Amino acid sequence: MSSRAQEPERRLSYQAHVWLTAAVAAMGGILFGYDTGMISGAQLYIEREFNLSSGEIGVVVSAVTAGALVGALFSSWLTARMSRRGIVKLAAVVFIIGAVLAAAAPTTFVLIVARFIIGLAVGFASTVVPLYISEVVPAARRGSMVALFQLAITAGILLAYIVNAATAEEWRIVFALAAVPATLLFIGMLLLPNSPRWLVARDDVEGARRVLHELRDPDAPETEEELQEIVAAVEEDRARPKESLTAALTSPLARTILTVGIGLGIFQQITGINTIIYYAPTILKEAAFGDSASTLTTAGIGTLNFVATVLALLFVDRIGRRKILLGGMFGMVLTMAGVAVAFAVDDFSGIWRWVTVFCLFGFIACFAVSWGWGFWVMASEIYPLFIRGQAISIGNSVQWGANFAISLLFPILLTAWGGAPVFGMLAGFGVLALWFTWKLVPETRGKTLEEIEDEWRRRAGVDEGRPPTPAAAVG
Ligand code: BGC
Repeated sequence: MSSRAQEPERRLSYQAHVWLTAAVAAMGGILFGYDTGMISGAQLYIEREFNLSSGEIGVVVSAVTAGALVGALFSSWLTARMSRRGIVKLAAVVFIIGAVLAAAAPTTFVLIVARFIIGLAVGFASTVVPLYISEVVPAARRGSMVALFQLAITAGILLAYIVNAATAEEWRIVFALAAVPATLLFIGMLLLPNSPRWLVARDDVEGARRVLHELRDPDAPETEEELQEIVAAVEEDRARPKESLTAALTSPLARTILTVGIGLGIFQQITGINTIIYYAPTILKEAAFGDSASTLTTAGIGTLNFVATVLALLFVDRIGRRKILLGGMFGMVLTMAGVAVAFAVDDFSGIWRWVTVFCLFGFIACFAVSWGWGFWVMASEIYPLFIRGQAISIGNSVQWGANFAISLLFPILLTAWGGAPVFGMLAGFGVLALWFTWKLVPETRGKTLEEIEDEWRRRAGVDEGRPPTPAAAVG
């Protein structure tokens, strides 16, 4: 039949559309990675030009994570008032302002303010980009699509390492270049549709249908079924008596889910990823490597982080999320414990320096194939519609808070305690993460967002009636 004959070609074009959606949206990830990665190399030159103390340089470095914390929190307020697409466009504009201001900064104060502004945009993008992607792609592809966001983060980090190496002391160029992907992000978002869930929540069911017809096969019964599921979920939420947002967020069901979301964010950070991403040269110098060997190894870490994430993308939606999180964390604990043992032996003249390098690389590989994308994917799919925008922003800001704390404390603790106890503590946090994942994290692979919500209600024993929905929370 002719319609059959056309099917494969059509399907490809829907898929191409979906990939385009995710690829452009994931540009936000590149910015996230670039803006957090660029400071490692630029640090040295900024320190010299502005004659900064180590405390001041700490503030310059962590201003982005502090801004991201505030940005992620503020996203909650924004998601209730603006479309996901609008927020991503806003993030792009804020990125551009921050990049230009940082590149032109005449004083340390302006530089810190500019880095904080960049952080705000990173916070918006890291919260809303995965949310947007999860709402526009089909359930079966959601994991790999949101994982694209993580791939973009690692590409951004690698890009920053490369640009840093290529431009040496021209740190202002490194900062200004961040405006390029930000502009692309803005243009890309102009071309993309609004999230169907957001449109339904704004009573624009026809608009949602049109978007779904662009992104799915318009003749397939599942497309209409998906729309009806979204409509039913929004209507069900509206039918609940209105209560305050705080009440909705503290209901037993929301508490159960938030515990998982917040826990995943904290464990992604406190198990030590950014002690390596931000401070690899420091660690390697402690392990008796020279300056250039440290820089080279750091570039190797950036490359491995990216390559392992590419590999991870191949199996994201083929293996259960729980298995990957547990397996990856197991590897992270072993390798982090290996670094602790190397520092305890404290003889970096022979084999132990290579054990350290092997373990650092091993940790990065294990993280990249599991918790790297795993946190963002889980954060985009575990929250039900009635708290989605708010909960994801709370979960993400706590994750940024943990990032801020660990990256601020790590160098201080390393000096005060020495390597073995610090790395041992990070490995210990990993053991807790294993327990937490085993006990509390649900399997979400291949389920629609509505099915995931049903699963939570079953778990929390609240089959009858979802918790009340604040009117603004739906958007
Ligand atoms: C984490 C970042 C980290 C990056 C490394 C992300 O998932 O949230 O904190 O720097 O992975 O690839």
